[in-house]
Amino acid sequence: MNIFRTKDIDLLHREVENHSLKRALSAVDIVMMGIGVIIGTGIFVLTGVAAANFAGPGIMLSFALSSLACIFICLAYSELASSIPAAGSAYTYTYVAGGELLAWLVGWNLILEYSVGASAVAGGWSAYFVGILKSAGIELPQAITAVPYDGGIVNLPAVLIVLFITFVLVRGVKESATVNRWLVAVKLGAIFLFLLLAGPKVDATNWTPFLPYGVAGISAGASIIFFAYLGIDSLATAAEETRNPQRDMPIGIIVSLLICTVLYIAVSCVLTGVVPYTELNTAEPVTFVLRKLGYNFGSAIVGTGAIAGLTTVCLVMIYAQTRAFFAMSRDGLIPPALCKVHPKYGSPHIITLIVGLTVAGIAGFTPIGLVAEMCNIGTLFAFTVATACVLVLRKTKPNLKRPFRCPAVFIVVPLAMLSSLYIMSGLPAATWVRFAVWSLIGLGIYAVYGARNSRLAPKAEGKLPA
Ligand code: ALA
Repeated sequence: MNIFRTKDIDLLHREVENHSLKRALSAVDIVMMGIGVIIGTGIFVLTGVAAANFAGPGIMLSFALSSLACIFICLAYSELASSIPAAGSAYTYTYVAGGELLAWLVGWNLILEYSVGASAVAGGWSAYFVGILKSAGIELPQAITAVPYDGGIVNLPAVLIVLFITFVLVRGVKESATVNRWLVAVKLGAIFLFLLLAGPKVDATNWTPFLPYGVAGISAGASIIFFAYLGIDSLATAAEETRNPQRDMPIGIIVSLLICTVLYIAVSCVLTGVVPYTELNTAEPVTFVLRKLGYNFGSAIVGTGAIAGLTTVCLVMIYAQTRAFFAMSRDGLIPPALCKVHPKYGSPHIITLIVGLTVAGIAGFTPIGLVAEMCNIGTLFAFTVATACVLVLRKTKPNLKRPFRCPAVFIVVPLAMLSSLYIMSGLPAATWVRFAVWSLIGLGIYAVYGARNSRLAPKAEGKLPA
């Protein structure tokens, strides 16, 4: 059994050519999906707590630092996504460059980013939704708004939003992209409204002291708000459904990152400029600040925009999970029957339903806070390995067609890897232990199923596309 076998790139290209997913997405769709998946809990929920407890007004530098790391990572991903435009993203790049076992481990850890991440965001969605109903005078009973661990029976709003998203995704990628576009427009509208209302009220004295927790506070803040950038890599999983992935993948990844970076820094400047950072210790800093300024109606509108924003994060994350599994099942590492494509909708409906129901189950019944912090570590592990693949492939496949080439690759890629490892190193020891346990479970599943059923295993020889 050769666990280091790599996937042949020509075979991969043939599989991608013969695939049955619909090529329906444009560059604009990819940018909108990028904004859809990036802006969410990070800015609407985590910024306040991170500013109050870790970075102070220096939170804007935490955003700048995370953005810089993401720019390196995105340049590397853009080269990979344009030269290997396959649904598996980091998993597939690693399969080609680093071998099957490592690829499986990357794919396994992407579950933390996409499925656990989507469940966590659905939990945040529910909290915002229940809050808005409450301010309209409608109070839902705790039994149907909290998980059993928190004294409820089920977090029903979280379950229902995930089921709605699953339904949209089964209907097809174009339909999903259209819903995403509308919701992203609402989300952007909410952010601009916030900047418009609160921006003129900035009082620069609130920025002093700028670094109340010292320079270390900047990186401590960055480890937390890095969640705000999770999902950026998920765009690469849309490569097989994009009309011109060689051109549109780099555009989509880089443009959406730049737009979100500007908005993040602007929002964090305004938040910390309007009230003293010590007052921002709240799970809804954006609406809190507007209420404090007396904009109650504006606050309700922005809150509604936040709900739209969290919906798109969930949508793109669940989408990305289904496409990563799609690629893994095509390789035989999970049962191939799961990647059947619906004859009418052109979506991988079976795997979409399985992922949707699982995410709904986690969001509805488990105390997601306990596992949510594993999202960052799983993602950063995938980032470290995938970006290393750029250098490996430059060496092992120098003639691979690279429509987008990462500039200054021998500087940018090591910086991408180092920044990922640096942010990982800031995570608590308990998270590392959980990450190790999760990875060991993954390795066990690979030993029992994947290693034997891989399409590259000797028994599958002769069944590969010619
Ligand atoms: N980046 C996404 C968010 O902040 C995961 O919600």
